[in-house]
Amino acid sequence: MLNNGNLWWIVPFASLAGRASGQDSPAPPPATAQTGCVSGDCHGSVLGRSFMHAPTAQQKCAACHVATDAAKHEFQLAAAPDQLCVTCHSIKKFDFSHEPVKAGQCIGCHDPHGSQFRSLLKADPLGDLCRSCHDAGAYSDRRFVHEPVASQACILCHESHGSWRPHLLASDTRSLCLSCHSAVAEGVSSARHVHSPLLNTPCTRCHDPHASDHAAQLKENPQSLCLSCHTGMAEQLSTSSTVHGAVAQEQACLNCHSGHDAEFPALLERRPIDLCLQCHSQPLSDAKGRTLPNMAALLQDNPFHHGPIREGDCTACHDAHASSHFRLLEHEYPPEFYAPFTLDRYALCFNCHVREMVLQPFGAGITGFAQTTPDGLLNLHYVHVHKEKKGRTCRACHEVHASQRPFHIRESVPFGEEGWALELNFTQTQTGGKCAPACHDPQTYVRPGKSLLKTDSEDLP
Ligand code: HEC
Ligand code: HEC
Ligand code: HEC
Ligand code: HEC
Ligand code: HEC
Ligand code: HEC
Ligand code: HEC
Ligand code: HEC
Ligand code: HEC
Ligand code: HEC
Ligand code: HEC
Ligand code: HEC
Ligand code: HEC
Repeated sequence: MLNNGNLWWIVPFASLAGRASGQDSPAPPPATAQTGCVSGDCHGSVLGRSFMHAPTAQQKCAACHVATDAAKHEFQLAAAPDQLCVTCHSIKKFDFSHEPVKAGQCIGCHDPHGSQFRSLLKADPLGDLCRSCHDAGAYSDRRFVHEPVASQACILCHESHGSWRPHLLASDTRSLCLSCHSAVAEGVSSARHVHSPLLNTPCTRCHDPHASDHAAQLKENPQSLCLSCHTGMAEQLSTSSTVHGAVAQEQACLNCHSGHDAEFPALLERRPIDLCLQCHSQPLSDAKGRTLPNMAALLQDNPFHHGPIREGDCTACHDAHASSHFRLLEHEYPPEFYAPFTLDRYALCFNCHVREMVLQPFGAGITGFAQTTPDGLLNLHYVHVHKEKKGRTCRACHEVHASQRPFHIRESVPFGEEGWALELNFTQTQTGGKCAPACHDPQTYVRPGKSLLKTDSEDLP
């Protein structure tokens, strides 16, 4: 970190006499008196600077230089180099003192005679001063350098002599950062949902104050940063069979969450559905290379939206992060067209819908998909779904996101390995329907009770 090339000044002052009488310079007069050092061609350079040190300006050279051999024009400092300045100046004691100040190396930063910079500084305190010792190239290999650091304005954050805080900080980190980033404070105080570390953790837990390889001065890539505290989430990601592409790609967690504050719960930047559709408004490929439909177009083209989607809540069924269920579902749902029946397999749907629909073969008031038979009112959901072997899964008849018809009855269903479209040939009526799929002969059912349809669509007889 330190620039050793700058340590020349710790050479004992006595040796300066040799320099002063170097061959290029005219021989100095014998210093019989300690006055008149600045005369003719001699030592004019120590005067006339914009900011002069009082004793030098007054030409009290002897306050600091005493002759050891007047004839040879040899001098010595009036006190040991690390004591010279503190003979006149008292330096405040801090819990944390800057190393060169502690060591009395005042002239590492100050010119004892005068300077063009204020406070007799040897270089611009908003420019080169600090980098005369601290490696100027320290951050140049990073992609993003914090602006005040890039402009070498170290003293906007650090004290130069000492501080009551570690790292010579000018104030506590949070106030320091907020002194320039007032918009962050405004966000935190006005937003409805605030990330708790913003209130009780130093900003430097997440941001590097100097430079970083990650945008927004983040200390790590967003995913590692977030997971360094959210260990439960880290566990979920590492133990699930599918991790959502959104969690890893591009901005990772920041694709959906804010790091500071947000108007929506769970630090979401927008309503969940708007978040989802910002990526799912084009076909995407899943991990196995299969094409996922353009969900935004699907919702636009199909007027009947499933209840949770009307509420704007895709995460009612999907885990936004990772899951071991098919298609990132929150609960079990069979991926196939046929599945042997167990209630557990349909945990997703029966998290919201009444399970009697697939458990009771007969009875009124269970479902509208029913037919009067000599044995009673036959539950056609039971008939199709509740089978030991080739039970039809819900997808055989229903769309899950949106459909052209009420009850989310689908037009066709992908079938078999190839996923070819099996036409349902369903005709919906005000009181029930008729379907003629490839599965069986055309069948009609008449819903018990009154019309359940909410629409009086002209298409429906
Ligand atoms: C407050 C103490 C102080 C006073 C007053 C002072 N000097 Fe110095 N001077 C130093 C120190 C310390 C050094 C050595 C470090 C350096 O060169 O920066 C030095 C270095 C020098 C040098 C050799 C290096 C150089 O800068 O050329 C000369 C010559 C010199 N002083 C002349 C003078 C003259 C002439 C005066 C009076 C007009 C004077 N000094 C007043 C502290 C002082
Ligand atoms: C002989 C006494 C004396 C010595 C030795 C001395 N100073 Fe000073 N220094 C003064 C006086 C007097 C002032 C003017 C004080 C004021 O204006 O309040 C001053 C002012 C300063 C200032 C403030 C300048 C400004 O513009 O605000 C700095 C910085 C400083 N000295 C640094 C040093 C350093 C570094 C050394 C050692 C190389 C040193 N002084 C040695 C007497 C001394
Ligand atoms: C790392 C650089 C650095 C070192 C080393 C350093 N100073 Fe300073 N000093 C500064 C800066 C920068 C200022 C101006 C402070 C400001 O404006 O905030 C300053 C200001 C001063 C002042 C005038 C303002 C004040 O605080 O009274 C004096 C006097 C002073 N220093 C004396 C010393 C003495 C004596 C030493 C050695 C014991 C020393 N400095 C070592 C950087 C340094
Ligand atoms: C004369 C050489 C020198 C100059 C000039 C200098 N420093 Fe230092 N600085 C040191 C040394 C030596 C250390 C202690 C070793 C280290 O931490 O690298 C240090 C340490 C530090 C530290 C770390 C303190 C800690 O406890 O972690 C900070 C911060 C710092 N300096 C800031 C500055 C700033 C700001 C400036 C410019 C105003 C500056 N330094 C100018 C020599 C210097
Ligand atoms: C925006 C404020 C800010 C600026 C500007 C700044 N620093 Fe720092 N610096 C800090 C903070 C905050 C820390 C403490 C880091 C921590 O707590 O992890 C620190 C720590 C340090 C340290 C000690 C720990 C380390 O990272 O090595 C050094 C040395 C240091 N800074 C040098 C500098 C130098 C040199 C400059 C100018 C090029 C500078 N700083 C500019 C805020 C700043
Ligand atoms: C002296 C003023 C100042 C201080 C103090 C300061 N910053 Fe900055 N910061 C800036 C400036 C100027 C920029 C660049 C302009 C911008 O993006 O706002 C910046 C940029 C940033 C950025 C990047 C913004 C982006 O969009 O890439 C982050 C993050 C940041 N600062 C965090 C911090 C943190 C954390 C601290 C406290 C350790 C801090 N700043 C202290 C002035 C400051
Ligand atoms: C829990 C981690 C975390 C903490 C703590 C944190 N930030 Fe951030 N900050 C972030 C993330 C993540 C981003 C990037 C957000 C984005 O791109 O949406 C960011 C962005 C920023 C930005 C640039 C964008 C903007 O909003 O202007 C600034 C400036 C900033 N933070 C300052 C601060 C300050 C000041 C503090 C302390 C009060 C702080 N941060 C505390 C994580 C954090
Ligand atoms: C310094 C540790 C820390 C880091 C880093 C961190 N968080 Fe948090 N986060 C917390 C704490 C503490 C809470 C509040 C306790 C809780 O609800 O678990 C929280 C809560 C949350 C919440 C829930 C808020 C709510 O209202 O339910 C979300 C979402 C969140 N963090 C996302 C993130 C994201 C995204 C990142 C990365 C940019 C991140 N966190 C980085 C500590 C952290
Ligand atoms: C595709 C958008 C998206 C991405 C990417 C995402 N989240 Fe979330 N996250 C959400 C949504 C939506 C919620 C709220 C609904 C819920 O609870 O499922 C949430 C909730 C959370 C919560 C609070 C509730 C809980 O489950 O504990 C935390 C913490 C969280 N996310 C952290 C993260 C972290 C860490 C990452 C990155 C590894 C991340 N999120 C990536 C959308 C996302
Ligand atoms: C940042 C873009 C992005 C956002 C935002 C996003 N997704 Fe995704 N999603 C993807 C990508 C890319 C894939 C396919 C790659 C993968 O998952 O591995 C995918 C795949 C999926 C899959 C299929 C997973 C599988 O492998 O079977 C589901 C389901 C899904 N997303 C639901 C959602 C939901 C719900 C939301 C909103 C909470 C959402 N997505 C937000 C990019 C995104
Ligand atoms: C009622 C539960 C539910 C809701 C709400 C829901 N999904 Fe799904 N989603 C599913 C089911 C079940 C599947 C599997 C469909 C299948 O293969 O039959 C699925 C599959 C997907 C797929 C994979 C492509 C496909 O058609 O198989 C994507 C992408 C997807 N959903 C995104 C979303 C988005 C975006 C939202 C919000 C607009 C959303 N989902 C809302 C249950 C739901
Ligand atoms: C998060 C709760 C939730 C989940 C999970 C869920 N649904 Fe729904 N479903 C609803 C809501 C709410 C409605 C709308 C009810 C209304 O409009 O009265 C609905 C309506 C329906 C309808 C149309 C009923 C009508 O009266 O129009 C069908 C069919 C349906 N869901 C099938 C399914 C299937 C199949 C699954 C499993 C893949 C499923 N649902 C999972 C909440 C859910
Ligand atoms: C063989 C086709 C078929 C299968 C398989 C099927 N349904 Fe249905 N479902 C229908 C029909 C047709 C209706 C419309 C009934 C009406 O007209 O009232 C319906 C209606 C519904 C309704 C609306 C309320 C009601 O019961 O009338 C829900 C909820 C529902 N189905 C959920 C499911 C769930 C969950 C599954 C999978 C466990 C499933 N369906 C499997 C054909 C089917």
